[in-house]
Amino acid sequence: MQVLHIDSSILGDASISRQLSQAIVSQLQQKHKDTLQVEYLDLATQPIPHLTAEILMGQDAEQAALGEAILQQYLRADIIVVGAAMYNFGLPSTLKAWIDRISVAGRSFKYTENGPIGLAGDKKVYIASSRGGIYGEQSPVDFQEAFLKTVFNFTGVSDIQVIRAEGVNMGDASKQQALETAHQMISAL
Ligand SMILES: Cc1cc2nc3c(=O)[nH]c(=O)nc-3n(C[C@H](O)[C@H](O)[C@H](O)COP(=O)(O)O)c2cc1C
Repeated sequence: MQVLHIDSSILGDASISRQLSQAIVSQLQQKHKDTLQVEYLDLATQPIPHLTAEILMGQDAEQAALGEAILQQYLRADIIVVGAAMYNFGLPSTLKAWIDRISVAGRSFKYTENGPIGLAGDKKVYIASSRGGIYGEQSPVDFQEAFLKTVFNFTGVSDIQVIRAEGVNMGDASKQQALETAHQMISAL
């Protein structure tokens, strides 16, 4: 089975979403007895260039090849583990740049007379989410988890599990509690 592990936090070893995404991958490796093939993208240290008109129109051969590789990597993954920090109510912009490369008409989705259809096939997505404040599941100002779920859904992926640590900037006790809850969820995967 092919796993695509993505991190996007800018905080390196201090990052909670990185800690959680790594714990999820380790747990899956244990569960599947090391039969997983893991590909890793660190979007903070190796950001994907923003989409431009030239890239979109296929006028930049190097970027077109990179986009194709990123798209194929997404399409072939059976499991996606994505570390997603909340930055200003949304995602790190590097993760948005990745989304702009995997959302490709005719490849990961298509429009029909009855609306859009996702083409990305069966996948399981784990979102390792970290947030300074507390928002829960349905906050109107959550443009982080809700956005990611919408994008994955749009490409046809509905099996999405969020492992969340939130309230991590609300004092040590809140952070410890959030980490404990998240790691318990991971142990139960
Ligand atoms: C640039 C930046 C913007 C942030 N914006 C928010 C925010 O809008 N809401 C929030 O609850 N926390 C916010 N935070 C706090 C982070 O969500 C929190 O520190 C989280 O743990 C970040 O994930 P990481 O530990 O993987 O880097 C922000 C942090 C940074 C660095």
